[in-house]
Amino acid sequence: MKPIRLGVNIDHVATLRNARGGDHPDPLRAAREVLAAGANGITMHLREDRRHIRDADVEAVRREIAAPLNLEMAATDDLVRIALALHPHACCLVPERRQELTTEGGLDVAGQRERLRGVVAALVGGGIRVSLFIDPDPAQLRAAAAVGAPVVELHTGAYAAGNPAEWERLQAAARLTADLGLECHAGHGLTFANTPPVAALPEVMELNIGHFLIGEALFAGLGPTIRRMRSIMDKARAG
Ligand code: PXP
Repeated sequence: MKPIRLGVNIDHVATLRNARGGDHPDPLRAAREVLAAGANGITMHLREDRRHIRDADVEAVRREIAAPLNLEMAATDDLVRIALALHPHACCLVPERRQELTTEGGLDVAGQRERLRGVVAALVGGGIRVSLFIDPDPAQLRAAAAVGAPVVELHTGAYAAGNPAEWERLQAAARLTADLGLECHAGHGLTFANTPPVAALPEVMELNIGHFLIGEALFAGLGPTIRRMRSIMDKARAG
């Protein structure tokens, strides 16, 4: 089985920093530490309201860090412009509502094909690998392939909430990505406990994990937390 990558979402380092309005803790320092501990890339969500990560944070990571940067963003003209100028390795298009606490559901690709076809083409044309964050729903997967996205990230939030039917849905969706020729990533709500089955899915090439890892780092430290997740993923992958 191909190895699986770990992208660490460092948004909540910025959440903590912004609580006091200063510059500590520094997301760039977190990026360096998670990479040193075995993460393969850095994920940052530049929200329209800039509630955690800000433009200067993504610019600093892009400038200072050689590892792949996965920029999560809404499919707005403004953010597309920023992405094309920043040129991250990847962009993950997510739905965004200002009032939500986190990305609560997947992108409705099927309901906005024309708009997303243009956004995907602009980003791919700029040399950026594009993924669409979608629920594990066959109609959304087919729409993602139809609008030209090379990658989908399956929203694991419902699976992480513990509904066994959601595990079946996730497995079926992962299998369908292969039939559609899409690269499959997954993320949201993943923890030490619920990551192994997802990491063992052969189609899944990358997990993006944030909130749990940053929270756990308060107790165990950032390096040990990432090393433990890395080892859990590798063991699951090895069977
Ligand atoms: N992937 C995407 C597209 C997300 O929007 C998020 C949350 O920002 C994550 C992964 C990480 O989710 P969590 O913070 O629950 O691990």
